[in-house]
Amino acid sequence: MPRTWFITGANRGLGRAFTVAALAAGDTVVATARDPHTMSDLTDARLTVLPLDVRDRDQVFATVAKAFDVTGRIDVLVNNAGYGLVGALEELSETQIRDQMDTNFYGALWVSQAALPYLRAQASGHIVQISTVGAVGSLPLFSMYNASKWALEGFSASLADELRPFGVKVTLAQMGGFDTDWAKSSMKFADGIPAYSAVRESILGTPDYPDMSAPAAEDTASEPAADNEWAEPAPEVAAAGLLALVDDPNPPLRRVIGPGAHQMVAMALDARRRDYITDPEFTWPA
Ligand SMILES: NC(=O)c1ccc[n+]([C@@H]2O[C@H](COP(=O)([O-])OP(=O)(O)OC[C@H]3O[C@@H](n4cnc5c(N)ncnc54)[C@H](OP(=O)(O)O)[C@@H]3O)[C@@H](O)[C@H]2O)c1
Repeated sequence: MPRTWFITGANRGLGRAFTVAALAAGDTVVATARDPHTMSDLTDARLTVLPLDVRDRDQVFATVAKAFDVTGRIDVLVNNAGYGLVGALEELSETQIRDQMDTNFYGALWVSQAALPYLRAQASGHIVQISTVGAVGSLPLFSMYNASKWALEGFSASLADELRPFGVKVTLAQMGGFDTDWAKSSMKFADGIPAYSAVRESILGTPDYPDMSAPAAEDTASEPAADNEWAEPAPEVAAAGLLALVDDPNPPLRRVIGPGAHQMVAMALDARRRDYITDPEFTWPA
């Protein structure tokens, strides 16, 4: 049976790959983008492109309503829009912190909230939150990115249990590194203070952040060291993983997607376990 998708941040990176893959699978897609013109090269009778900045709650509710008007139902809702903010906590401005949460956390929250009455009424649907291995572990200089995705996972795990009686599923797709603009032109940086130069050097391989006031240079931002250890796969690899996930009749709450990502999750979980087992009252289940 062909499915109907709703995807945020669909104009580039993973969101575009998800859109193209869903169309190629014979499905119908409502793709949303801040600037719909950036999707004008994609023409398909089964594709509807709607403008959406996920930070705008009113626009989110109106756009989700319009999507259901256009298609009648949504089987797969992908909260994909997001970006990475880099900076030591004390270097980040309130505006930067709020924008990170408004996009990665509240954006996905508003879209989920807006869709829930429709999904409950149709008694089906699969909400996929595009999360990260950084929502299991954490990395210095990524505190607010980590926080935004941990927050996304927190409400979504609870939501999964709330929605089970209604036949609506939720999955946290914990992505590894993929070759998109995430670690390049999309990444936002704090104004660095010298005290953190050594931390920057160890994590980013450079003592300074890129100058955000300089004219945008394509793909010049430093990639986090953790992402440099291997060549990152193309977004189409992520799309294949997502297709496999939504084909699963019993999808898990958490699905790790991407080469190398499983080891990163395992290391983060093991670090937690090692913390807990120093406590004599804590018994790790056999
Ligand atoms: N690539 C990776 O290695 C990786 C790893 C783990 C998780 N992720 C997650 O995957 C998701 C997609 O990222 P990507 O790798 O595809 O990065 P990307 O190439 O930079 O694409 C990000 C997308 O998010 C959109 N977006 C950002 N802010 C938005 C807003 N306020 N409203 C609507 N759309 C907005 C962008 O739209 P504009 O074109 O308008 O800016 C763009 O379409 C993000 O949630 C990211 O955190 C990525």
